[in-house]
Amino acid sequence: MLPLEARVWPLTAALATDGQLVVGGNFAKDLAHTYGTPLFVVDEADVRARIHQCAQAFTFPDLECSVHYASKAFASADVFRWVIEGGLGIDVASGGELALALAAGVPADRIVLHGNNKSSVELETAINAGVSAIVVDSFDEIMRLQQIVRHQNNVIDVLVRLTLGVEAHTHEFISTAHEDQKFGLSVLTGAAEQAAVAVMGIPGLRLRGFHSHIGSQIFEATGFEAAAERALAFIAYMHQRHDFVTEELDLGGGLGIAYVPTDDPLPIPVMAQALHDIVIRESARHGIKVPKLSVEPGRAIIGPSTVTLYEVGTIKPIELDGGEQRVYVSVDGGMSDNIRTALYDAQYTARVASRDTIGAPMLSRVVGKHCESGDIVVRDIDLPSDIAPGDLLAVAATGAYHRSMASNYNMVLRPAVVSVLNGTSRVLIRRETEADLFALDEGLTR
Ligand code: LLP
Repeated sequence: MLPLEARVWPLTAALATDGQLVVGGNFAKDLAHTYGTPLFVVDEADVRARIHQCAQAFTFPDLECSVHYASKAFASADVFRWVIEGGLGIDVASGGELALALAAGVPADRIVLHGNNKSSVELETAINAGVSAIVVDSFDEIMRLQQIVRHQNNVIDVLVRLTLGVEAHTHEFISTAHEDQKFGLSVLTGAAEQAAVAVMGIPGLRLRGFHSHIGSQIFEATGFEAAAERALAFIAYMHQRHDFVTEELDLGGGLGIAYVPTDDPLPIPVMAQALHDIVIRESARHGIKVPKLSVEPGRAIIGPSTVTLYEVGTIKPIELDGGEQRVYVSVDGGMSDNIRTALYDAQYTARVASRDTIGAPMLSRVVGKHCESGDIVVRDIDLPSDIAPGDLLAVAATGAYHRSMASNYNMVLRPAVVSVLNGTSRVLIRRETEADLFALDEGLTR
């Protein structure tokens, strides 16, 4: 039996004697039978363990910290409750994410609002709800806020999102003066300072601190350290120049996870320690009050917990140049439930989940059912030669940015999401029905 690589499969994933994948005490075949495929299966114990690990890792005697779960990775009422029960807050980046968090009972003072183009309605809703802070991203937004707080008695806490000229990609970061992207206000050009001064001048707004997000799926601490260094130099400058004491430095999300066994991200506690050390060191070096450190991991909390179960449909061997063969294994989902392969050339690990296989490995490509040749789930993978229609195929580490980026392309129904725990299972988000799709088509009612 092919072993399970612990690094990519959820915490409780195991193999039964018949070779079936078991998650949270649930057999893959039972889950597929009960809920249908494709199916997102969330290992609740895995998510809760990571929430706990984050909360623990960012607890220091000499540094106040807060952790917000970036809900864009995956948003559901139950997951929000696990996050809150685990002592974290929630980062929302749209009116929809905010509304869901509030509807799920997340206390508003545990919510931070993000976005480069928040509407006045979104800002007003957040302010009326009493969110903990709004991370401002433009001068237009500051003006919108000014209009709103003019008619308010409460004071709204604000962080200014900085562009620090540090950008992280998987495995590496680049430090550059080019800041040609839509997020943040540049420290280099003085825009960040101007924005901070503008916020300080508006009664009803309270500048609490600064925010930076350097990228996603980051494996090393170096990029974060470079960002923290620059942010703290700016914080020191703001103190010196404007006598402003920064209370909070939010270093955003981006902590990476393993999708394939060769991925080797720094463990969260190691990353947390590195961030702690640099904030303490740089604050001392500049002689400034140590700000509270915040982070907003999304992927690192939800990503590894989930597997997608697909049913294998057609299998088609294709002759390649040079006499080689690649076998196209089609599954009953595809780019509508996993756009990451097409969008980012993301890599995945997959295995037959319904039985033991004995066939020799063969060069394969897992593809979906959409009318597009870029509809690829796993670009290059060895699958056993005895894989057959009707088998279940499990793809690992699909908790973050899969269901949340799912679409109805080709009028395909978005899959259900179920959580599993100790032999029980529960629907977090039910499968869409054709009635759900038809409900939006006004032409059907004319
Ligand atoms: N905070 C801010 C301000 C962000 O923009 C993001 C992600 C996060 C936190 C959470 O980042 P995480 O810890 O999940 O990496 N769709 C892409 C990822 C886009 C991330 C956008 N912002 C993907 O599937 O890889």
